Amino acid sequence: MNHLPLFLEIKDRPVLVVGGGEAAARRVETALKAGARVTVVATEAGPALKETAKRDGVDLEEREFRAADVEGRVLVFVATGDDDLNRRVSSLARDAGIPVNVADRLSLCTFIMPAVIDRSPVLVAVSSGGEAPILSRVLRARLETFVPAGIGRRRFWEDFIDGPIAEYILAGQEDAARNLLDETLDKAAEEQKAGQPSNPEGEVYLVGSGPGDPDLLTFRALRLMQRADVVLHDRLVPDGILDLVRRDAERIFVGKKPGDHTLRQEEISRLMIDLARRGKRVLRLKSGDPFVFGRGGEEIEALSSEGIPFQVVPGITAANGCASYAGIPLTHRDHAQSCMFVTGHMKDGRLDLNWRAMAQPSQTLVVYMGLRSLPEFTKRLIAHGADPATPAAIVDNGTRDQQQVITGALDGLAALAADAALAGPATIIIGDVVTLRDKLSWFKPRAGDNGGG
Ligand SMILES: C[S@@+](CC[C@H](N)C(=O)[O-])C[C@H]1O[C@@H](n2cnc3c(N)ncnc32)[C@H](O)[C@@H]1O
Repeated sequence: MNHLPLFLEIKDRPVLVVGGGEAAARRVETALKAGARVTVVATEAGPALKETAKRDGVDLEEREFRAADVEGRVLVFVATGDDDLNRRVSSLARDAGIPVNVADRLSLCTFIMPAVIDRSPVLVAVSSGGEAPILSRVLRARLETFVPAGIGRRRFWEDFIDGPIAEYILAGQEDAARNLLDETLDKAAEEQKAGQPSNPEGEVYLVGSGPGDPDLLTFRALRLMQRADVVLHDRLVPDGILDLVRRDAERIFVGKKPGDHTLRQEEISRLMIDLARRGKRVLRLKSGDPFVFGRGGEEIEALSSEGIPFQVVPGITAANGCASYAGIPLTHRDHAQSCMFVTGHMKDGRLDLNWRAMAQPSQTLVVYMGLRSLPEFTKRLIAHGADPATPAAIVDNGTRDQQQVITGALDGLAALAADAALAGPATIIIGDVVTLRDKLSWFKPRAGDNGGG
């Protein structure tokens, strides 16, 4: 910590400001807000300062600075274009033990001014120690969003802190950030003058929500869920996650049960495009990861060809979530040197897969959407050389309160699944790593998990 953060009481105390420009006028305003008695010394006072000087509590003296001016002050602000004068005042104040701030001259300051969010009596001050002023402004803007305000204003700040300005700053491109910030502020000011904010451009957030446990959401997912105007969600996204979407966001269920799609894929894409064109921030919430058996790629292809801005947030895919919560390390080095994710979903009643590659030893096979085709799947895998005794697990409702895990040999797995009448969604893990579950199982769902068969 390079500076000690303090809130100083200067009500009715004497403060000196040296300088006649706008920066000096702003310091006077700040000191007045805190109730100080301000003396301003400037050889030539500019219009802004002259205006401010009309207020009670300000004494403007248009003359040369004198060493005696610092005497008896509790604070000294300097904002002149004359660097010799800046240095002189700074050193006089230091010698007298008076805190001094010189505008844009960090090395001459003994205190710096933070960016302030004034919600008196609450004050929030943000500082980067003078090293990254833009970053302080962005953080200040972020704090602004916590303050109840008109929707237009909130949207402005949200776009500001989550949009390209913040991205530039995080990428270290401060100049680009400053230019864009100025442009954005000018635009907002024009809109305010015209009295009508322009219809903001919508965008789509393609967000992976993980396998079900809300704790597995990413911070970014949660942030965008809080920003969305409308959410399009699938059957596999549980209520516990939907509850975290902004309360007043519109919710549209777009289904997607195997073979029973409430909306067809093209209709979902069309809906997203229409909503974004109307200026909405559209949250497309998908289970697991949007790019793993999630058709997320097709959805953003449609957006991209229509020029709709979008961003993609990865989620924890079912394979990872189920494996972790079932205590099955997918690539434990004693058992597996590779791991393959495949779909057991039948196309036109057929399973069209690379059986030979899947039947290799020393690898782990994770099967998505494989419950229905399990009898056929296991039969063909064994026919292509897999050992019928290969350990296997079915993780049903993985990571959720209803998680159930069934384990058994590959050749008996389909019968075990039928007996258990699993409801799905279920992920199947095949390979020697499954044996580790006996030792590594840790998750205790509130209902369900039979502890492994
Ligand atoms: C259409 S895919 C979507 C996969 C998703 N994009 C992902 O990355 O997890 C649906 C399949 O994911 C798996 N799945 C999703 N959530 C699951 C869960 N909580 N437990 C077990 N399997 C799950 C099941 O195999 C299900 O049939």
